[in-house]
Amino acid sequence: MHSTQFIKNGEIVNADSRQQADILVEDGVITQIGRDLSVPKDCEVINARGHYVFPGFIDPHVHIHLPFMGTCTKDTYDSASKAAVVGGTTTLIEMCCPGPDESLLDAYKLWKSKAEGLSACDFSFHMGVPRFDAQAESDLRQIVADGISSFKVFLAYKGALGLDDEGLYKTMQLAKELGVIVTAHCENADLIAQLQQKLLSEGKTGPKWHYHSRPPMVEAEGVHHLATFAAVHGTHIYTVHTSCRESVEVALQAREQGVQIWIETLIQYLTHDKTDAEKPRFQGAKFVMSPPLRDRSNQDYLWNALQQGLINTLATDHAPFDFKGQKDMGRDDFTKIPNGIPSLEDRMTMLWTRGVCTGKLDIHRFVECASTETAKIFGLFPQKGTISVGADADIVIWDPKYRGRISARTHHMNIDYSAYEGQSIKGRPARVLVRGQSAAENGKFTGQLGHGRFLKREPNHF
Ligand code: URP
Ligand code: ZN
Ligand code: ZN
Repeated sequence: MHSTQFIKNGEIVNADSRQQADILVEDGVITQIGRDLSVPKDCEVINARGHYVFPGFIDPHVHIHLPFMGTCTKDTYDSASKAAVVGGTTTLIEMCCPGPDESLLDAYKLWKSKAEGLSACDFSFHMGVPRFDAQAESDLRQIVADGISSFKVFLAYKGALGLDDEGLYKTMQLAKELGVIVTAHCENADLIAQLQQKLLSEGKTGPKWHYHSRPPMVEAEGVHHLATFAAVHGTHIYTVHTSCRESVEVALQAREQGVQIWIETLIQYLTHDKTDAEKPRFQGAKFVMSPPLRDRSNQDYLWNALQQGLINTLATDHAPFDFKGQKDMGRDDFTKIPNGIPSLEDRMTMLWTRGVCTGKLDIHRFVECASTETAKIFGLFPQKGTISVGADADIVIWDPKYRGRISARTHHMNIDYSAYEGQSIKGRPARVLVRGQSAAENGKFTGQLGHGRFLKREPNHF
């Protein structure tokens, strides 16, 4: 069915430009941008006066289905994609995470089947590689041919999702051959295991000890490890959830030495710190994730690096586990607390409130780190990540005057707590369009489950 939208009076903000102009959308694609365009007959007119008009935001690190630590994440594409669009995220890339003995191809089909026909936003996957053998290689080639141009490796979580060094070497080699980027969770698994055992043997069992089992040097070593393996083959790499100065500095050194490395940080590391995981009566478990929340002194460094473009992208690593029934599996042993701080719905409002409103992040970097650069790194640009003629009409009309508070009582994520409970926000999406179709309005889902499409991504796009 033919559909037309006309967005007038808004201020369009791209990563590299800003203009007062109208936008014409036809059948989900932006077809005209200009001042005083004539309004076609029978089209939906959206008045964006007093609002910014941003390209739809992209979250490149999301877990929706994740069997992990003896349990499984709570969201489905029903809840997660609603949460995404209400928060301004119109495309997400989920981590497909097979277990050590699972068929990669079967896992890929399973993860994809959970999104297709249900997601309200567009989606893709990073393909997890828990082991590398002849079957895994053949599966990975098939998965890349199906439109996946990024792998995911875990240097942590040994015996579960983690990949050994021989596997890492071979994965890097294949990725180079296929023109695929390798995203990686960088923490030294053996160091963590030793530190966990030491802490537990000393009777240190509460959530706050999680940090001490994974100090910054454990992450920095992981980044160095990854960069070394990448350098051998010349593979493009991307460090997910980079949490602290130490590991960013190692990544930047590698970049200076010619490694093709991109750096992601998370909203949680900018808004929370390790004292959250020290909250009494086991409340700290809500803030247990890996790498852990860091000392507050890291935050200025991370904001600066993000503003300067040294850190490339801002994601969530959304991994939703309930407090009751899941996080409390680790009441007597912090190593059993499922890791993750759900944030899919709150990323952009928090980034705006804590970043743009405080002057830590300029409005163009806001768009770039959460949309444009992400689209470029993962082969989605210029279909996504920009308000330009020919691009998909994924559009966020942002109300900078909105004032409100975050609460688990009103969020769409299928989770029994919010890490941002009671926090105030200044600004939010007033309207969100996914390929021209209404997806959210002022905190309410207005979209259609199943409208989201699988995005085929070509390798060798760099
Ligand atoms: O704590 C986290 N990050 N949970 C999700 C799994 C992962 O490591 O990304
Ligand atoms: Zn991770
Ligand atoms: Zn993750």
